[in-house]
Amino acid sequence: MKNKYHNQVDVFFEKNKQHLLSNYPGIKLSRLIQEVLDNQLDSEEKINSFFEELMRGRPLEYIFGKAFFYQSEFLVDERVLIPRSETEILVEKALEFSASMKQVKVIDVGTGSGAILLSYLKERQDHQDLAWACDISEEALAVAKKNTALMSLEGKVHFFESDRLSEIEEKFDVILTNPPYIKEHSDRAGVHHQVLNYEPAQALFLKDEGYEEWFELFFKQIKSQLKENGFSLMEGHENHLQKLKSLAHEVGFQKVEILKDYNNCDRFLYIRH
Ligand SMILES: C[S@@+](CC[C@H](N)C(=O)[O-])C[C@H]1O[C@@H](n2cnc3c(N)ncnc32)[C@H](O)[C@@H]1O
Repeated sequence: MKNKYHNQVDVFFEKNKQHLLSNYPGIKLSRLIQEVLDNQLDSEEKINSFFEELMRGRPLEYIFGKAFFYQSEFLVDERVLIPRSETEILVEKALEFSASMKQVKVIDVGTGSGAILLSYLKERQDHQDLAWACDISEEALAVAKKNTALMSLEGKVHFFESDRLSEIEEKFDVILTNPPYIKEHSDRAGVHHQVLNYEPAQALFLKDEGYEEWFELFFKQIKSQLKENGFSLMEGHENHLQKLKSLAHEVGFQKVEILKDYNNCDRFLYIRH
């Protein structure tokens, strides 16, 4: 498991440990060595450029252009959010709640890299589901399309540039979404500087004023585009989900439940008519 640069990585890590830990909380020497091996950094030039990126704090997923999510590897770059492990729960729950549904019409709103939708479709390949994906960012859609091809799902997803569901007229059995949900000002202090520096702001933030109205409109769209026996799963902010739950009830949904993440924080809304 060693390559000839092992020593250099070791010395670099020890020398810059504090700085590296502030950029990459919890990072270990063994992880850096593994990245060097996995990504075939086999020249002085490649190693030095890797060290420079690390000193700048660029996320490893963007440096190497890939992120692992659920059961697959996805192409990622600065046009899309790096898919997070807690979002895998949304995929698991979506699969669980649709286990008895034969062929579903499913949409992922704010698809980014496509991680949620493509993971869901891959697990349900026998069902011949009909799939839509939308994002307000044309650049993000380009990444999602590449991932669709990589997962041999080309031609199976209809892509739309759309503000939430405004450009889509279909009705769906399953509406999945991990929308931006951090309040631009009041939640900002809790966001790591690496995220602020590198990930697309449009994927993360909503304005503080108008935050609830943004979701109210979204819930109204979901209400009119969710089929009678369908369900929606939405990821959200632990401090705002209780409020969004009440809002979803006000919009007319009868069943709205909060689901937790791995840290036992409120993380998802499960919504049915
Ligand atoms: C938190 S990221 C989620 C990306 C991906 N679904 C995931 O879970 O990794 C939110 C995504 O929503 C998109 N987005 C932001 N505002 C939107 C809007 N008004 N309508 C549709 N998509 C939006 C962003 O471009 C971004 O790709």
